[in-house]
Amino acid sequence: LNNGLALTPQMGWNSWNFFACSISEDLIKETADALVSSGLADLGYVYVNIDDCWSAATRNLKGQLVPDPKTFPSGIKALSDYVHGKGLKLGIYGDAGAFTCKVRPGSLFHETGDAQLFADWGVDYLKYDNCFNLGIDPKKRYPPMRDALNATGRTIFYSICEWGVEDPALWARGVGNSWRTTDDINDTWASMTTIADINDKWASHAGPGGWNDPDMLEVGNGGMTYQEYRAHFSIWALMKAPLLIGCDVRNMTAETLEILSNKEVISVNQDSLGVQGRKVYVSGEANCLQVWAGPLSGNRLVVAFWNRCSEAATITARWDVLGLESSTHVSIRDLWQHKEVKENAVASFGAKVDSHDCHVYIFTPKTVAHSES
Ligand code: GLA
Repeated sequence: LNNGLALTPQMGWNSWNFFACSISEDLIKETADALVSSGLADLGYVYVNIDDCWSAATRNLKGQLVPDPKTFPSGIKALSDYVHGKGLKLGIYGDAGAFTCKVRPGSLFHETGDAQLFADWGVDYLKYDNCFNLGIDPKKRYPPMRDALNATGRTIFYSICEWGVEDPALWARGVGNSWRTTDDINDTWASMTTIADINDKWASHAGPGGWNDPDMLEVGNGGMTYQEYRAHFSIWALMKAPLLIGCDVRNMTAETLEILSNKEVISVNQDSLGVQGRKVYVSGEANCLQVWAGPLSGNRLVVAFWNRCSEAATITARWDVLGLESSTHVSIRDLWQHKEVKENAVASFGAKVDSHDCHVYIFTPKTVAHSES
């Protein structure tokens, strides 16, 4: 969507994956505090997004949405003031149907009033879900909220959560700033890998202004190993997915913070070229040894070696698979080891990768000086 936002994928936090409906204004404030004190805000995680269950069960007599008086007694305007005071942005959640997924009032046919209310509250981001949609075509339900948000005059990030049902990658570029390509993620290796593969199919449709959204991060929620979370974060970054943290940032382990804070992997995600990397080569049993890659600004490439097999193995990328001439000299930096691992690789590069782990490299091809003879 051409509203000046999402030139790179959005970064921040969302309440759903860890807290579901157990949310409150105190949680949102404490999360904003923790994003700042942990250093995550400085790394670009600026959106603090409230998901489902913030609203009361019914609209007020004026037909407006009302924050749940038990959990958000001070209201959303007070919360956005608090979040803005920390230098962060506030996101909220609504639904392009009669009700949200947790049966709070939906915004279908209330787009103008609800968008104005969000703008008046100082909201910066809307995640717009797909429950209770009355069987109406999403191509008819999502544009009205885009137009209503635009009409408020406030710049609001528009995140389409249509779950990939009607192939939103094919129509949502002019509608939203990102669109979910899949069903909900859960905190398991099986879910994460399945979703990565589905999102990969839509790679050619992502770019500045609008991104494929394979759903929010599960890093730090406990259902995967350190290696698996590192792979999850690496591949989401390479796929130019939104980096929306889904754990309790008030209580992160050192390992969780280390993964989410990897500046070099974040800069792959936020690279100005904005091209979604993809799965470019597979080998091994059930194709479990994988190379994912994509172009970066400055003529560089990001290359990930992802071992989805149950044993450690060597993964090798040949230059032809990466679109390089085989004679090209390449310097290679490992973004998890944070060091150069090869000065002058030619034709191919291989490395041993632990089971379920993922290495991420930046390949910088060298302009070779012509020899004298
Ligand atoms: C849907 C969405 C999730 C979350 C829940 C909230 O399932 O896909 O991301 O927003 O609704 O109820």
